[in-house]
Amino acid sequence: MIEPCTFIVFGATGNLSRNKLLPAIYHLEEAGRLPEQMRIIGFSRQEWDTERFREQVSDELHEKARGGLKDKVCDQLCERIELFSGDMTDPESLMSLKQKIEGDPEMPNNLIFYMAIPPALYGKVSEAMARAGLNEEDRGWVRLVIEKPFGYDIESATILEERLHKNFREQQIYRIDHYLGKGTVQNVLVFRFANLLLEPLWNRNYIDHVQITHSETQGISGRAEFYDNVGALRDMIQSHLLQMLTLVAMEPPATMDPESLRDEKVKVLKSIRPISKQAVNAHAFRAQYGHGSLKGQKVNSYMEEDGVADNSTTDTYASLKLYIDNWRWRGVPFYLRTGKRLAENSSMISIRFKKPPQHLFRKTHIEQVQPNWIILGIQPHECLRIELQAKEPGLELDTHTIQLDASYNPNENLKLDAYEALLLDVIEGDNSLFLRYDEIRYAWEVIDPVLKAWSRENDFIHTYPAGSWGPSEDTRLFDSDSHDWRNSTDI
Ligand code: BG6
Repeated sequence: MIEPCTFIVFGATGNLSRNKLLPAIYHLEEAGRLPEQMRIIGFSRQEWDTERFREQVSDELHEKARGGLKDKVCDQLCERIELFSGDMTDPESLMSLKQKIEGDPEMPNNLIFYMAIPPALYGKVSEAMARAGLNEEDRGWVRLVIEKPFGYDIESATILEERLHKNFREQQIYRIDHYLGKGTVQNVLVFRFANLLLEPLWNRNYIDHVQITHSETQGISGRAEFYDNVGALRDMIQSHLLQMLTLVAMEPPATMDPESLRDEKVKVLKSIRPISKQAVNAHAFRAQYGHGSLKGQKVNSYMEEDGVADNSTTDTYASLKLYIDNWRWRGVPFYLRTGKRLAENSSMISIRFKKPPQHLFRKTHIEQVQPNWIILGIQPHECLRIELQAKEPGLELDTHTIQLDASYNPNENLKLDAYEALLLDVIEGDNSLFLRYDEIRYAWEVIDPVLKAWSRENDFIHTYPAGSWGPSEDTRLFDSDSHDWRNSTDI
């Protein structure tokens, strides 16, 4: 049975709460997955009353509810919700919150605190919570949920961790990487470990290289203040793309319990060959979008976006070549890339197999033999495709590529948002899909040499036209002439 809890959202009137958390909670309500007595407190500086907050919540839900808002579900949810106005960095304010919870017999004493606030405040708020006694578990459990980015580099991540750990135990901290809440990302584990068929092939003997791509058509969406200090490598690769890489590359865990799973992911991150100072240019590439056009509309360059510094060399595109030095993967390049203002919205993992040693079926050169691919479409094409060669119909013994296509989720109404799965896990106390600090630290170690080199070379950055597939120059990362970025899940 799921224990009842009080769910407190810091920053309840902000973007993350409005766009992701409250819609996810609504969908869990709709699915009947919230504990009956669960209560929700929106904590905000806004001096609103509960009625106004509830109105704002239902207005947002009108737009975001899958398949249209269901009034009954919305009313049910609003019944659970109230607003608490206060300053979350002030222990006195938090003390009043505590008194309110403890003084109300309807409020469960198991507490979840979700920090939907700027990461720079995580340390300060957690300390204020401790001063108000909100980290104590004498009346029920306490869980603290934080979102990436976890620090800005190794040093700041370590400092944040020390601050959090002064007052909270590791078991209380839920670090979200929302990619791990995506069904298609979890499917990588199922695909690999529920199908014996693949295991003998899943290694350096048969796999030529792996590509992990996340491309977006949107620019920085008014987030220059955040993004211009961060860039694509920190924003996407350090977290989401390296997490996907660990799932593709990890060994089968002993069990699916949280620690076994995370131990295996950490082993992968620890096995990534460090990029030496001299090798940064051979392993990493960055670029920034210039002006261009998307869906027939002209779009500005990054430098023209509001709030971007005049001489900014922030990467809106980053690509990386990594090697995992272990028995399974030694010598197999893993290419990772991500970018804003690219031609399409797409996240996919593409695994290219080696070519057969001899070409028997066509009067062409061995170089032209098409290799097999496995394509795991993460979004928007949620699919699993295997590319094989088959005989061309006709009199000749020619080959052509066919795809075995298993759509992961053909039903739009079943498309869950990552936050639904992750919030339910927090409520249920399952932290397998949340990050342990050592994962974060090793992920920072992977990109740290690149970040350092780029911060020194800050007078030039390549550009690519908005709406394109990125800079052509980064093909220099490839180990072979036969390697090229794969942009589509189709043949
Ligand atoms: C966030 C990044 O973590 O992930 C954003 O900060 C990015 O810059 C977003 O747009 C992508 O997430 P999704 O789920 O839309 O692919």
